[in-house]
Amino acid sequence: MLMTDRRALVTGACKGLGQYLAASLAAEDWDVTGVGRCPEEQVAAVSNVTYLQADLSRPETSAALSERLDPALDLVVHCAVAYPPARPSGPEPRDLEEVFRVNAFAPYHLTLNLLARKPADRFCSYVVVNSEAIYSADDHSAVYAASKAALRVLTAGLAAGCRSAGAAVSTLLLGPLADRSKLAEIETIAARKGLPASDVVRLFLRRSNPNLVIDEFIDHASCLRSVRYLAELGPTANGMLCKLDGGSSGSLV
Ligand SMILES: NC(=O)c1ccc[n+]([C@@H]2O[C@H](COP(=O)([O-])OP(=O)(O)OC[C@H]3O[C@@H](n4cnc5c(N)ncnc54)[C@H](OP(=O)(O)O)[C@@H]3O)[C@@H](O)[C@H]2O)c1
Repeated sequence: MLMTDRRALVTGACKGLGQYLAASLAAEDWDVTGVGRCPEEQVAAVSNVTYLQADLSRPETSAALSERLDPALDLVVHCAVAYPPARPSGPEPRDLEEVFRVNAFAPYHLTLNLLARKPADRFCSYVVVNSEAIYSADDHSAVYAASKAALRVLTAGLAAGCRSAGAAVSTLLLGPLADRSKLAEIETIAARKGLPASDVVRLFLRRSNPNLVIDEFIDHASCLRSVRYLAELGPTANGMLCKLDGGSSGSLV
């Protein structure tokens, strides 16, 4: 297969890890379709990335999206994520529905729809991005963590259904990322306390989860390498759980 024949779909491509993965794969000559909620005008144009606007919180989106896509894909990365809005009275039923739809139901349904339309002779890797939050939920993260725990179980079910189907469904389970909002918060605290930002990150990581054995946030480049690794493993990666989480789930588990 020529390098330029490689075709990837990345959800959550407006910002954060999804945007980084879409742009990085495109720079490596993948033909990338990026899916995001925000309007196309708000997304920086990247060569080799075709942007599709779609709201994954709507139940009809997964089926409609798979109809719009060319089903000849080599890699699908489910990266989109929703969090419940902070409300003084706690999350409302509609918040739970939206979070579960975007984080668990959409990747599940979209994968099922794409698998049903996949050309029989084309192997495809589906990488489902999950979170260490499933091991350490508290009152603030419970809704998000529950949606990701549901995603983890649904992903295992998809992998079981992929046996002999010319596809692999794996999980990339991540710990705290070096995302823009965390880095900005760290810079502010570092400036206020007169400390190097690296010291503040180290303290933050020790306090946020005592199981963590890393001193730095997980960088996007390491996530890209992990996605590439899972894709390169081919059928062997079916059902695989790749943890790039800094030990979040504890050393004995
Ligand atoms: N950040 C972390 O520390 C961390 C830790 C562990 C795991 N993860 C996982 O890593 C992945 C990427 O996280 P991130 O922090 O990079 O994400 P992010 O910056 O919050 O970006 C989320 C993306 O999902 C899109 N999205 C949200 N709701 C959507 C909807 N209804 N329909 C379509 N797209 C929607 C967003 O679009 P808009 O821009 O339009 O909202 C955005 O492009 C997620 O699966 C997350 O669970 C992250």
